[in-house]
Amino acid sequence: NIDTELLRTLPKAELHLHLEGTLEPELMFALAQRNGMPLPYDSVDALRSAYEFGNLQDFLNLYYQGAAVLQTEQDFYDLTLAYLERCARDGVVHVEPFFDPQTHTARAVTMATQFRGILRALADGKERWGITSCLILSFLRHLSEEDAVVTLQQALPWREHFVAVGLDSSEKGNPPEKFQRVFDQARALGLKAVAHAGEEGPADYIAQALDLLKVVRIDHGVRCSDDPVLVQRLIDQQTPLTVCPLSNTRLKVFSDMSEHNIMQLLERGMRVTINSDDPAYFGGYLLDNYLAVRDALGMTREQAVQLARNSLTSSFLDGDSLNNHL
Ligand code: ADE
Ligand code: ZN
Repeated sequence: NIDTELLRTLPKAELHLHLEGTLEPELMFALAQRNGMPLPYDSVDALRSAYEFGNLQDFLNLYYQGAAVLQTEQDFYDLTLAYLERCARDGVVHVEPFFDPQTHTARAVTMATQFRGILRALADGKERWGITSCLILSFLRHLSEEDAVVTLQQALPWREHFVAVGLDSSEKGNPPEKFQRVFDQARALGLKAVAHAGEEGPADYIAQALDLLKVVRIDHGVRCSDDPVLVQRLIDQQTPLTVCPLSNTRLKVFSDMSEHNIMQLLERGMRVTINSDDPAYFGGYLLDNYLAVRDALGMTREQAVQLARNSLTSSFLDGDSLNNHL
């Protein structure tokens, strides 16, 4: 098995990370106090001990409740900068974070407030630690397609400051086909597309995301293994999967890390990457996810190098900006 320090120093990219999911309980309390908002928990410890999830929806309920403390540009800045500081320590050289604007515009926190805070932190992260980034605007799939269309319109003044659209939130019952028109609009604007698919939802949602939304990566995608034809397609097309091991065990997609299929998919030749999803809620940042997989399933130095390389080559970087990290 590869040792921890080698894993830490290996240049890695993070391609599946929700900024709202990096809100640590300590920061949640600090922002609640700064903004004069009550929290339904007495202490950081009480909050953390509520992080026991039976499924994705259990988690999402707490995650949206927690995100309500994010009110000002400075809040979004502090959130994003704290994440980047952690990346710098873990050998993460490039990030492609999601944010969920509808979570905030629904509370009258404007698109401008969100973009200004996040973009200022991303610029400072580049300046301080050399971390490059591409931002992804993600639509909430439990809301209507019309709401997503309005959100895309609201984001147009920042069109040059995000590279792709994504699709997240409650997967079951909210298939990719529900968002075909808004993804068409986004691609017509020159944006790339990614989508959460095959996390809790069926393998067919992965095929829909590829065929109807024309995504260039699948977020999660672990349920592809229910469909051998789809597995072969993902291998043939070399579609990247942004797998999130600690998320999958915390949300009971797999009962235990020893049951996770990530190394099987990698060994079959799929373009698999490791990511942290919502590290403040799932017990670990990017390096912790690599270590958890290594400890439960084994990871040779060659496999670690392949995973880290996949993360960079599956990113939206190309040319010199990619080569500078390889
Ligand atoms: N939003 C934040 N994390 C998510 C996940 N793992 N699945 C779907 N939506 C999310
Ligand atoms: Zn996610």
